[in-house]
Amino acid sequence: MILFDSFRQELATTGRAWGGWTVTIYDSIGGVSSVRVVVDKFYGRVLNDPQWAHYFAGVADIDKLKSHQRSFIAAAIGGPEIYQGRDMGAAHATLGITARTSMRS
Ligand code: HEM
Repeated sequence: MILFDSFRQELATTGRAWGGWTVTIYDSIGGVSSVRVVVDKFYGRVLNDPQWAHYFAGVADIDKLKSHQRSFIAAAIGGPEIYQGRDMGAAHATLGITARTSMRS
């Protein structure tokens, strides 16, 4: 336990642990399986929320979207996945997202 605490403290303060090994956010949260859980929970929420669900009504393949989202997030937090979806501007251009979109009314 003491070893684990010192690992966590070193990681939190330096982003490195055990004398120089770089530990990515991806690794520290548990890698691909944790990313999968987060993405599943995320779409489980937005697709069942009246404020958000309509944005996704036109998406033909939700599994493909989730797959792209997993690789996007994994790549962003240091994982080995390669994102092969569209760029963010193209993916969201026609959705009518505005600064007010994120506000609950
Ligand atoms: C930081 C914010 C966001 C990130 C990083 C993000 C990321 C992504 C990614 C990686 C994709 C997949 C693109 C592809 O499959 O080629 C995607 C698609 C999509 N996103 Fe987002 N997104 C964000 C915000 C939002 C918001 C605020 C909404 C709606 C209110 C939204 C709605 C959608 C929809 C509907 C798609 C599917 C578009 C389609 O397949 O035609 N996203 N997003």
